[in-house]
Amino acid sequence: MAGRIPQEFLDQLLSRVDLVELINTRTPLRRAGHDFMACCPFHAEKTPSFSVSPRKQFYHCFGCGAHGNAIGFLMAYERLEFLDAVEELARLAGLDMPKSRGHESDSSRALLEWLAQADRYFHQQLREHPTRQRAVDYLRQRGLTGEIASVFGVGYAPPGWDVLSQTLRQAGATPEQLISAGLASRDERNRLRDRFRDRIIFPIRNQRGRIIAFGGRTLDASATPKYLNSPETPLFRKRLELYGLHEARTHTQRLQRLVVVEGYMDVVALAQHDIPYVVATLGTATSAEHIERLFRIVTDLVFCFDGDLAGRKAAWRALEAALPFLRDGRQIGFLFLPEGDDPDSLVRREGRMAFEQRLERAMPLADYLFAALRARAHPDTLAGRARLAELARPLLEKLPEGHFRDLMTARLQQEAQLVNTRLRPLPSRRPADGDNAQLTRTPLRKAIALLLHRPELAQQATLDNDPALRNNQEPGVRLLADLISVLRAHPELTAAALLERYRDTREGAILERLAQWRLEGPEEAYRFEEEFADILDYLRRRADPMKQWLESLLQRGSPDALSPEEREALRNFSQSRKVE
Ligand code: UTP
Ligand code: MN
Repeated sequence: MAGRIPQEFLDQLLSRVDLVELINTRTPLRRAGHDFMACCPFHAEKTPSFSVSPRKQFYHCFGCGAHGNAIGFLMAYERLEFLDAVEELARLAGLDMPKSRGHESDSSRALLEWLAQADRYFHQQLREHPTRQRAVDYLRQRGLTGEIASVFGVGYAPPGWDVLSQTLRQAGATPEQLISAGLASRDERNRLRDRFRDRIIFPIRNQRGRIIAFGGRTLDASATPKYLNSPETPLFRKRLELYGLHEARTHTQRLQRLVVVEGYMDVVALAQHDIPYVVATLGTATSAEHIERLFRIVTDLVFCFDGDLAGRKAAWRALEAALPFLRDGRQIGFLFLPEGDDPDSLVRREGRMAFEQRLERAMPLADYLFAALRARAHPDTLAGRARLAELARPLLEKLPEGHFRDLMTARLQQEAQLVNTRLRPLPSRRPADGDNAQLTRTPLRKAIALLLHRPELAQQATLDNDPALRNNQEPGVRLLADLISVLRAHPELTAAALLERYRDTREGAILERLAQWRLEGPEEAYRFEEEFADILDYLRRRADPMKQWLESLLQRGSPDALSPEEREALRNFSQSRKVE
């Protein structure tokens, strides 16, 4: 997608906007040495760990690992798509967007427009349609006030085959657009039919607040299906979206906790009882994407499921999806409701206080996990404890490293007693995880980090004329050489603009982490030029193929691992070194 916008335009854009100013108007920044600090806008915290570098035009939170340039900041903070963030920055910088925004985004713009018009239509019907009273009575009987109905934009789709389709067709929509927006379909005689007929309508908004789909509930207890949702469309992917998230974020600036429930009406009813921090999955299981999205907003999640078998299954799937995201400082609770209740019925019967008390007492994920495993393994025998360890191991292995993982491992040892509970070593971590794990400081990485701190160093480098390095195919050396040649061609680029060229690539993920490296010692005293020259020298020496081979022999350690010829070569080499 980034490819659609010319590189020069992104360069120009990032050189015009000031990240400090951009962030400061949203989250006040305080100067701290060369950088600026604030409490992180992406997670709840009391002491500032969010730092913005004016020089690099890059931000980084040492608490939650959020990081990026001006485009990334707007995407995360305003919940914008890449192109929308670029457009917004262009507006701030007084630049005109490059002409073609691409066919795809034009068409999704049109779909959003028709969905917005459909939404207005459903509203109007709730106010004006001759049969509106049925809908109004239904909502009232379910305890909703006009105020909450309007927060969630509840509407009414009147009876009739194609009233909405006709209205939108008259306004200029094509049948194909109505079908791809999920508003209509063709019947067996190829006539356009409205999807939602005689239903209460719940608009589904994306994080940015745009309507991307609808859910419709029957008014009539016997009609099926009870709920009808928009189908998956280019704009609506159930695995990614959460009902009520936009409303919750709009209501509360700094959310601390989010509760995940199963139904639309549960979200609305809880909001009606002044519990406005609830979201629902859209008739799908909780996905990794859901969890990731929620943990970007809060550190505390409670899953609230029915007490029946289906609820327990759903809870277990949520647990499995959540394990990889349980970094230290994040927590998950499970609230199982009494059989026959859902959050809606419970909060109506017991009220807000009692419901919030239940949330406080939600079962911690660790307790739930071990309780569920004990129920399966029966650890009262040695075999049972072995089974418990066996069931637990693959689950605990999904946890990211940290205190929580250590605690869970210790707990497993306790629960399984005497049985070997050792986990497999952690796989090497994907750099895209956005966490704070350190990359080992190799000279090559350090050279790249220095370059990101001081892009002007590229002007002194001769890496690209150096045949030994020019032909070196090692990925890290290639990346360094690429960076140097880009910077030589565009000396004005900041670290942020440099990173922008690598958005969504493997290299980009590594560069982002290297950009966050702290230097040893104060920046004023740091000898960038010398350090950088030294490393290039080292790389050049290392690039000598003969030496590289010999070094590799040396690294094998014991002479037994070498062939007689190799030993011979090594001996000669050591002799020659002594002379040097
Ligand atoms: P429930 O059947 O638990 O309904 O479905 P509910 O939320 O309690 O609804 P009310 O109180 O009877 O109005 C939970 C969720 O499952 C999806 C919907 O997303 C619903 O909110 N669902 C349910 C469907 O998609 N289709 C259905 O026919 C039923
Ligand atoms: Mn219900």
